[in-house]
Amino acid sequence: MAEHPAYPVGLRLTGRRVVVLGGGQVAQRRLPALIAAGADIHLVSPEATPSVEAMAEAGEITWHRRPYTEGDLATAWYALIATSDTEANTRASAEAEAHRVWCVRSDDADAATAWTPATGTSEGVTVAVLTTEARGRDPRHTAAIRDAVVEGLRDGTLVAPHHRTRTPGVALVGGGPGDPDLITVRGRRLLAEADVVIADRLGPRDLLAELPPHVEVIDAAKIPYGRFMAQEAINNALVEHAKQGRSVVRLKGGDPYVFGRGMEELHALAEAGIPCTVVPGISSSISVPGAAGIPVTHRGVAHEFTVVSGHVAPDDERSLVDWPSLAKLTGTLVVLMGVDKIGRIAETLVANGKSPDTPVALVQEGTTAAQRRVDATLATVAETAAAQGVKPPAVIVIGEVVAVGPRGTA
Ligand SMILES: C[S@@+](CC[C@H](N)C(=O)[O-])C[C@H]1O[C@@H](n2cnc3c(N)ncnc32)[C@H](O)[C@@H]1O
Repeated sequence: MAEHPAYPVGLRLTGRRVVVLGGGQVAQRRLPALIAAGADIHLVSPEATPSVEAMAEAGEITWHRRPYTEGDLATAWYALIATSDTEANTRASAEAEAHRVWCVRSDDADAATAWTPATGTSEGVTVAVLTTEARGRDPRHTAAIRDAVVEGLRDGTLVAPHHRTRTPGVALVGGGPGDPDLITVRGRRLLAEADVVIADRLGPRDLLAELPPHVEVIDAAKIPYGRFMAQEAINNALVEHAKQGRSVVRLKGGDPYVFGRGMEELHALAEAGIPCTVVPGISSSISVPGAAGIPVTHRGVAHEFTVVSGHVAPDDERSLVDWPSLAKLTGTLVVLMGVDKIGRIAETLVANGKSPDTPVALVQEGTTAAQRRVDATLATVAETAAAQGVKPPAVIVIGEVVAVGPRGTA
């Protein structure tokens, strides 16, 4: 049977009876894909792992709690034979053969009439890798090839130029806090497909160096804005490049909708009739404290965290933040864009009832090689930040969570 290579095919199993014999690890690994394929799955096994049992409880499979008996495979389209009893497996595969049911055997690939490829998916494409001959089967090698292809397609290092459907218009991509590994898989793929990238100063700037030379990289801070406001100039640049039929990525720090003006850009694009997709990002408000060893919540310490902008002082009439109310909260306060105003912020919180001993941490350039953390209290933070030369970008964390990490976590 193994003289010739296997013939690859995609089975369309929706509503079709698939019989799985054995409820152990093999079934547990294979069942999710069969469920995803919409198969009418019948598991025959006296026992099952807790995960397989959960699939039965959820109604995703029908579980017959008994050993295999002759006739189980008679009406199946496809079978997976994976019991721990070799003799039963042999009888079952003979029955499959007699009824012309394609069957996979976990214990004897040579005796099977079908092999399961190593599979993975990326953007609507299933990658399936199959060894050509049973004798040369090396599951780790096939899995490694699968991983290389799927990973490459996902992160854009493997480009399929003739067939890839490029995203038209603009993608507002949240790039995460700065470490290039902390962008999402989707964001990275869109970046790899872009013709033009308009990037902020914050975010994963190292990724820009990896872009091929034909990609135009525009620094958002350097877009000339003449009589326009800077944001309007950025909106215009997005619209103009997209109108020329180019794939545009607007690469933003953190998440596009957390103090990121993402919705303003989306509105401008909608008004110009440009399709826009938004890719969430890991916000610095959670990830930067985390990178410095500070959880924004901790059981028994903080049951809430509030993220606020500190770009205007509490007594500034433009401020929309209710600082006196924030002073009364027991949870964590995370302040973005607050380095310049931290003195006034700390004073206001203390004046409204927050203890001057409340721990404060300033985390500058979190998740990058230059990350540093400076600790203080509300009473000392203004002086400490100035003395230590803390500069933006920094996330300021105020609350008892600052002190819960083991020493040296940051
Ligand atoms: C205009 S806001 C954008 C926030 C972003 N959209 C996000 O979700 O993280 C910029 C502020 O985010 C914070 N920030 C962003 N990246 C940071 C980093 N790597 N380290 C420290 N603070 C950061 C700083 O407070 C900075 O002033």
